[in-house]
Amino acid sequence: MLNSQEVQLSETKTSVKIQSMTAQEIRKKYLEYFKAKGHKIIPRASLVPQDDPTTLFTGSGMQPLVPYLLGQPHPAGKRLVNSQTCFRAEDMDEVGDNRHTTFFEMLGNFSLGDYYKEEQLTWFWDWLTKIVGLDPAKLYVTCFSGDKKTGVPKDTESAKIWKDLFELEGLEAKEIELGSQADGHVKGIQDGRIFFYDASKNWWSREGEPANMREDEPGGPDSEVFYDFGTPHDAKYGKYCHPNCNCGRFLEIGNSVFMAYKKTAKGFEPLPKPNVDFGGGLERLAAASDDNPDIFQISLIKPIIENLEKLSGKDYDQHETSMRVIADHLRAATFLAVDGAAPSNKAQGYVLRRLLRRAIRYAFELGIEQQLCEQVVPIITGIYESDFPEVEKQKSDVVAIFAREEKIFRQTLRSGVREFTKLAEQKKKLNGEDIFRLYDTYGFPIELSLEEAYLQKAEVSDDWRKQFDQLMAEQKKRSQTASVGMFKGGLADHSEAVVKLHTTTHLMYRALKNVLGDHVVQRGSNITAERTRFDFSHPEKVTPEQLKQVEDIVNQKIAEDLPVNWKEEDTKEALKTASGAFGDKYGDKVKVYTIGDPKKPFSREICGGPHVEHTGMIGAGGKQFKIVKEEASSAGVRRIKAILEKVAGAPAPKT
Ligand code: ALA
Repeated sequence: MLNSQEVQLSETKTSVKIQSMTAQEIRKKYLEYFKAKGHKIIPRASLVPQDDPTTLFTGSGMQPLVPYLLGQPHPAGKRLVNSQTCFRAEDMDEVGDNRHTTFFEMLGNFSLGDYYKEEQLTWFWDWLTKIVGLDPAKLYVTCFSGDKKTGVPKDTESAKIWKDLFELEGLEAKEIELGSQADGHVKGIQDGRIFFYDASKNWWSREGEPANMREDEPGGPDSEVFYDFGTPHDAKYGKYCHPNCNCGRFLEIGNSVFMAYKKTAKGFEPLPKPNVDFGGGLERLAAASDDNPDIFQISLIKPIIENLEKLSGKDYDQHETSMRVIADHLRAATFLAVDGAAPSNKAQGYVLRRLLRRAIRYAFELGIEQQLCEQVVPIITGIYESDFPEVEKQKSDVVAIFAREEKIFRQTLRSGVREFTKLAEQKKKLNGEDIFRLYDTYGFPIELSLEEAYLQKAEVSDDWRKQFDQLMAEQKKRSQTASVGMFKGGLADHSEAVVKLHTTTHLMYRALKNVLGDHVVQRGSNITAERTRFDFSHPEKVTPEQLKQVEDIVNQKIAEDLPVNWKEEDTKEALKTASGAFGDKYGDKVKVYTIGDPKKPFSREICGGPHVEHTGMIGAGGKQFKIVKEEASSAGVRRIKAILEKVAGAPAPKT
């Protein structure tokens, strides 16, 4: 093996590591290494996926590349490399130990139907041991054990490549069959180096193991590398330790996915060409390079922790959980805001708000009672601004938005904590009604009540949730009754003027995409009889020339008197081709409105209506579409206000 020219190992002799590398150096060396192997460096994609209403965040390096992994040619070629910022909201509650974060960078190299296992494993190993300089004796690997359900065989090929690589370093690599996580705890390491696990551990797709995958989703067996920190095993996690054990001894630092299959209705089908999707957590790699299992001590995070120590006058050693949560959440929040999310009560905005509130709450506990964001976010932007110019560009906007959010939340926090403490003193056990009252009257979020209960060691009744949900449902009914006749899906009413502007808004949305690009995604709309107000993602000011182009397209489409139609479609199908209000929850069926020939429509959107029957109706009375204002709404979001105005000498109405 290792005979093809491409997989020659680097000349440098592997030596015992003397110096660790900063995370910034590791990132740079990784991009350089793979560039030298014929890869094109591509920029990171936004954390807020553009035009993909099926998922809220970019959670892995491969996500923006799915169409290319499925076979579409990528403009930059078949070998790509980058460092993709990732956000995993589902890990929010795990943050606090020495390794979990919601935000991280994933170093990724991708073979789009080009090289495969031998090159991938050899290169990663070479880079890891010769460039980063990790001690091979501290590395352990895992491979897929194969299974009947998918018909995908045991990955003996990868195991053989690993065996030879270890051998070159004078290490005998014994192969051990483990199976599942639980099996690992029963069987243990047994002097092994290469461990076989089943699909619950060594299969990767965005939805996890094969049974959980959607149709048309790519996936495949994978091979992971673990770093051994040599810390003692904690039997709380299981009798024996093994690479996938959660006790903290082993840390996964890289995953080579051999993405060769697509899920279909009938089972798994090989993709036309097998791909490699490699992902390695930068922060984890840096921790391994430091030989320190605490990833909050690496060069990208330590300055934040030191700043928190300074601001609070407290030691990290004594306050690890709080400082880790604050550091992680503010890093995540900063990048989400740089990528266009703004605090709100919906979708990404809600998650961003939650991150900020949790960080502020934990800081409050440390005694940092004001200006947390203003004092910490500039440290974070400072760490990244030379490597990610967009961070530099957005930093003052982000600090201003967060500072505003913090100010409002601090008032809520003070009164909520005060009320909670009062309640906890009065009662032995808090119930759903108490939590609802804190929420309803003081705006104190549920998760903060629960965190407060934890911090103040107050008891909460077992059925609090049921009670809370019931009170919430009753309250909703009350407010619905009160709001009949108010806004319906962003429309002030269903009067003729509002309906005309509604259809016009669809035309404008399509025109904005045509003029500015497909990154334009609706972020909100509000339509009255006088004007339409439309928020959309776009990183910079729309120029007067671009606004004029949008106006011209819309007026052209009004003049063409296009038919407006709607059809009910399966949500899954509709989401593939229609745009919809981002992040909205849809049922199984949705209404899809088209403008123009339904087979080749100008605009196609998921929408509840109502609309005019044909676009000429908008121009009735000699009216034309006009944009009256374009401004920033929040970081990365622009707002347009537009009207229909009577133009002297306009063509005769068409109704
Ligand atoms: N896509 C793979 C992962 O996220 C590399 O682990």
